[in-house]
Amino acid sequence: MDAQIAISRVDQLDLVAIQPLVDENTAEGWLFLSKAVLAYQDGRNRFAKPGEALFEARFENELIGLGGLNVDPYLNDGRIGRVRHVHVLKAFRARGVGHSLLQNIIEHARKEFKLLTLRTSNPVADRFYRKLGFVTTPAINNATHHLQLTDKIYLPRAAWADD
Ligand SMILES: CC(C)(COP(=O)(O)OP(=O)(O)OC[C@H]1O[C@@H](n2cnc3c(N)ncnc32)[C@H](O)[C@@H]1OP(=O)(O)O)[C@@H](O)C(=O)NCCC(=O)NCCS
Repeated sequence: MDAQIAISRVDQLDLVAIQPLVDENTAEGWLFLSKAVLAYQDGRNRFAKPGEALFEARFENELIGLGGLNVDPYLNDGRIGRVRHVHVLKAFRARGVGHSLLQNIIEHARKEFKLLTLRTSNPVADRFYRKLGFVTTPAINNATHHLQLTDKIYLPRAAWADD
């Protein structure tokens, strides 16, 4: 990755700097960043629960990428984290920025969680997450990909999908 690009953990979502990412995310047909901003503003999700974190990528001072780690909000299990709201500005893709964001998220997640989930319908993201070691089977409710964070496989029975 370009030496001028820095990944860092932040306590707050920069609501001004994120706007170009939100606009691009929406224009690409995804709604998750505009929803994330609303959830942050009304306090539903501030990435502040135990184990949670927010990471940003900046080129010089410009925000060019974002990635969050939440307790999985669908599985009701504090040992399962979820990768959320990952977006890298198109102009900076395929340079390893997403990979670095995820490395930071995964490293942080290992401290608190046993399993990391996410959901994506983007084929580029599918390839991206598989390269990072995420798998798609066995299926987990409300997730498309997951990554085991410890040697022992952790799959809460109640979380298995029916199909
Ligand atoms: C998915 C996404 C986050 C990936 O971000 P990224 O910064 O492009 O990711 P990386 O650069 O780390 O890796 C992407 C690809 O670039 C390649 N790459 C990485 N560094 C590279 C370099 N220096 N030169 C050329 N290619 C490179 C990677 O090998 C990878 O290749 P692949 O397409 O064969 O998998 C980005 O495409 C995105 O924001 N998409 C829209 C939003 C989205 O779908 N988010 C995920 C929702 S959960």
